Amino acid sequence: MKTKESSIVNRRNFMKTIGILPVVSGAAIVALCQGCSDSPTSTLSGETITITLANESSLQSIGGSIRRTFGNNNNGLPVIVIRTAQDKFRTMSSYCPHEGGSVASPSGGKAICSKHGAQFGTSEGNFAQNIGGESTSSLQEFITTYNSSTGIISISI
Ligand code: FES
Repeated sequence: MKTKESSIVNRRNFMKTIGILPVVSGAAIVALCQGCSDSPTSTLSGETITITLANESSLQSIGGSIRRTFGNNNNGLPVIVIRTAQDKFRTMSSYCPHEGGSVASPSGGKAICSKHGAQFGTSEGNFAQNIGGESTSSLQEFITTYNSSTGIISISI
């Protein structure tokens, strides 16, 4: 059985491995990671993750997106961060509420579940909503803010 201390150490090691430096209890977390997606091995919860926009080439234009996994949050599946406006970023789960399929990265204003084809909007007016294909509820959305002065995107996981 893991002790609380060993769990924290493991989490720290994980964060070092993927390049994210955590500061626990709601303080800022600086994400230095690039290409660290899809490696769920941590147990973070109730924290804020930050992403430096300058490091994310796929988020430089409106409609661009990235997939990122933050430990075991979001059932260990990636979230999808999308630039929906010049100064606005939004984050949705890739976990399909229908039967748990994986929702692919956005294309043409929608993201499609690979399992049964549910389609989810990726624009400001329909973000994460089921807009076609298999009928289901909306994808979970995570509160996301952007500070244009610092170029930091903050996601509450
Ligand atoms: S699991 Fe996504 S549409 Fe069925």
